[in-house]
Amino acid sequence: MATADWWRHGVIYQIYPRSFADANGDGVGDLAGITSRLDHLNDGTPGSLGVDAIWLSPFYPSPMADFGYDVADYTDVDPVFGTLDDFDRLVAGAHDRGIRVVVDLVPNHTSDRHPWFLESRSGRDSPKRDWYVWADSRPDGSPPNNWMSSFPRAGKAWTFDEPTGQWYLHSFMPQQPDLNWWNPEVREAMDGVMRFWLDRGVDGFRVDVAHKMAHDPELRDNPLVELGEEDLGETQEARDSRRAKLKAVPRRDEDWPEVHEILRRFRQTLDSYDDRMAVGEVYLLDLERLARYYGSGQDEFHLVHNFVFQSQPWKAEAFRSVVDEFSGLLPADAWPAWMLSNHDVSRVASRYDEGGNGQARARVAAMLLLTLRGTPFVYMGDEIGQADGEIPPDRVVDVDGRDPERTPVQWDASPGAGFGGDPWLPVGREAARVNVAAQRDDPASMLSLFRRLIWYRKGSPALRGGDYRSLPDTPGGMYAYLRGAGDERLLVALNFTGQPLEYQVDGPADGRLELSTDPARPAGGAVGLQPLQLGPDEGVVVRL
Ligand code: NOJ
Repeated sequence: MATADWWRHGVIYQIYPRSFADANGDGVGDLAGITSRLDHLNDGTPGSLGVDAIWLSPFYPSPMADFGYDVADYTDVDPVFGTLDDFDRLVAGAHDRGIRVVVDLVPNHTSDRHPWFLESRSGRDSPKRDWYVWADSRPDGSPPNNWMSSFPRAGKAWTFDEPTGQWYLHSFMPQQPDLNWWNPEVREAMDGVMRFWLDRGVDGFRVDVAHKMAHDPELRDNPLVELGEEDLGETQEARDSRRAKLKAVPRRDEDWPEVHEILRRFRQTLDSYDDRMAVGEVYLLDLERLARYYGSGQDEFHLVHNFVFQSQPWKAEAFRSVVDEFSGLLPADAWPAWMLSNHDVSRVASRYDEGGNGQARARVAAMLLLTLRGTPFVYMGDEIGQADGEIPPDRVVDVDGRDPERTPVQWDASPGAGFGGDPWLPVGREAARVNVAAQRDDPASMLSLFRRLIWYRKGSPALRGGDYRSLPDTPGGMYAYLRGAGDERLLVALNFTGQPLEYQVDGPADGRLELSTDPARPAGGAVGLQPLQLGPDEGVVVRL
């Protein structure tokens, strides 16, 4: 196994188990399926993707109201995914290949079928009543405050429980009651959950909605401000004003200061084991508040997912400004993480597509993700440029419109793309053409580009751990930066436009073209830097 700080230098690959690989042919992915595909992820040779760790979305027993993010038992495996023995085999197989295993920890809420909640709702004097957030109606009979669920379709964040005459809080679906993190017994219980998996050999956790764990203990109303999702079409000014508004009027249903106490405790638990890591899902669109989730840089999260980065429009200046601003806000020892897709957001190849350039842009996005200073998170299927699936109305299963990014990974050209029967979500329409088998031996494929980028990164101290400086004088639509460590100096230049661009590099007359996202441009030879010429939608890595 690699040594300490693997999470700083490695590439982490997200697996949504339902949709990754189906070993038993029932149309739903499972743990044995993941084990059977480990060689695709990393067999130790550049013929494989070469990732250093996998993060598994929840595979715990669950009624699946939110497809596993409603956990009914934190310390077992749902039969649809297999057994604890299957999990142990997966961890052993991954570790044999030097792949670390990170599992999802969902501490903010349980399923409403979790025995803790069943006990809590059984009566006002239940010993577990206070493990969840219960409150009385307001005098007019309405819910305790104006908090809303994060899922617009779920409406209010409160559900009334007739038998006990009180409301319970759910930041997501009514089937996902929020735990009460003010209660020390809850903290103790989650510590036990973490130890269960750490003792079983997992290398870390991705912590679901970490910023929601602590809220105003007095349950006061949120200020009435429009706090909707960012719109990808927004102008920079609109985004700035939205961010300013968020800063000025903080919400009371999340990001309460005591969340940092909880995270320090998580960190102490992790630090009592060797080499473990936690990455926080912190959906805050204020970079300053986000940076606080690293604590001192040593005592809270090791890594934090940055959703401001993920929600930028396809504009060089937008990405540059987020990366530069966030890098400047981090405490000295903190290390950024970058992610463009996951199971909650439209895939890169679809999200940035404008009139058919989705694949070309996805290639540039891959280069961005894998050459920035920080840990890249790659979402399964992005390595083949998989697009969002099309979901007919009668096949919709998710409460929040996220089925398209969760369709099965396309392994081959068979009708189920490698999945048996009728897969739980329809297979993408392009699966016969866009699949792992078709791309494996094609040097021009997206898969080949990902492999080249990841293996190049492995051999480059500058990319894995070096410093970063963005170049301020690039032409509009180009984002360029220098990465350096020791004598290694690399220039990364990314063209976010559909036009050729030229850039007069301050430095030598030429460099060596290490990588290009354009499969037609041969790498490995000299490239002129006075000026450097980029084709439309092209990114390059140049050794200086
Ligand atoms: C964030 C997860 O990524 C998402 O899939 C889930 O619905 C919510 N948290 C609630 O757990």
